[in-house]
Amino acid sequence: NDSAIGIHDLSLATTEFVLPHTVLAEYNGTDVGKYHVGIGQRSMSVPAADEDIVTMGAAAAAPIIARHGGDGIRTIIFATESSIDQAKSAGIYVHSLLGLPAATRVVELKQACYAATAALQFAIGLVRRDPAQRVLVIASDVSRYDVDSPGEATQGAAAVAMLVGTDPALVRVEDPSGVFTADVMDFWRPNYRETALVDGQESIGAYLLAVEGSWKDYTEQGGRSLEEFAAFCYHQPFTKMAYKAHRQLLNYCGHDIDEERITRHLGLTTAYNNVIGNSYTASVYLALAALLDQADDLTGRAVGFLSYGSGSVAEFFAGTVAPGYREHLRTAANREAIDRRKEVGHARYRELHGHSFPPDGGDHLVPAETTGPFRLAALRGHKRVYEAR
Ligand code: CAA
Repeated sequence: NDSAIGIHDLSLATTEFVLPHTVLAEYNGTDVGKYHVGIGQRSMSVPAADEDIVTMGAAAAAPIIARHGGDGIRTIIFATESSIDQAKSAGIYVHSLLGLPAATRVVELKQACYAATAALQFAIGLVRRDPAQRVLVIASDVSRYDVDSPGEATQGAAAVAMLVGTDPALVRVEDPSGVFTADVMDFWRPNYRETALVDGQESIGAYLLAVEGSWKDYTEQGGRSLEEFAAFCYHQPFTKMAYKAHRQLLNYCGHDIDEERITRHLGLTTAYNNVIGNSYTASVYLALAALLDQADDLTGRAVGFLSYGSGSVAEFFAGTVAPGYREHLRTAANREAIDRRKEVGHARYRELHGHSFPPDGGDHLVPAETTGPFRLAALRGHKRVYEAR
């Protein structure tokens, strides 16, 4: 299929540190079953003081540039909820850290956790117009809620970088898409706040409505039927949310709820989000990485994607897995990015939670903590100074 466009390469990065939910549960007196079973989370990635969306985004993208070179890339779309600047795109720092050509356009996109899917779709549009070009899509986020709030257990951080182009080695993204927008205040972050505001139950309800809305549009646009999908990658603010969402979809379509079948469709997609936590824009693509890395051969099979961003916007679309995809996976590197994290205790986690956003703009050196390939070295004259190792 000459016109196939989609995900040619996918690479992920996460943080230096990790906080197990057993430690959080012990501190706040919660039965750990609520975390492990109730929300389906085992641990959350915690950024070091010198890590942020730029260092994670660059770390995720660097192996893609190492494998394919940067020459065909004429556009970088950086999707994030946890932006570091109101004006400048975080993608420009990544462009610089990776030494990409000046003949590149770079832009940042925002719509809570949904923006990476918009980035992917916009990238496909660009490639359709100029099939010779490739687009680097980066989804990078640090999820931060107030400490001692219900959202605290659903924090996390990670980045996914994807190379989008013709004849993709991993996933061919199909038309149509089902899209849905509703003006709701389920989760938001005013410009003066470092942590998100959320109405937990409202956000779950808004997500479920958006699942129905985007699926309805998907079928009206002539999409596949539910039976055709081998697996479903949902946005996972916590992994149990994927199960809630899928049950909602099955109900909506008048299907019986067969838990064993649901687990078959979702189980593998939760493996990375379960130990990383919410990575907002990256979450649905971490689900894809976990699925491709672990599943038996999915060649030619259809995968459903449900991307949700509070506020809210959702999109349902399908992709088919490309022949030979397994030779292009980064399974060992993905596992290593997760396994290399160092466990922190509760006190250290609290320090890092408070530290990471120096609000005063004053000059200072950032302590060297990360062993990752890029770090935020200093704040100087209101400018963030990054360095590569
Ligand atoms: N053992 C097993 N399960 C237990 C348990 C125990 N000891 N104790 C409680 N549970 C279960 C509960 O029954 C519940 O399960 P169900 O939802 O299936 O009934 C689950 O654990 C959670 O319990 P609560 O609802 O009582 O938990 P909570 O009030 O602390 O809130 C939360 C949970 C709403 C997810 C909260 O963590 C939160 O606000 N998180 C941030 C918002 C969020 O992630 N929203 C998701 C949709 S919005 C979105 O997707 C965008 C985004 O990324 C933010």
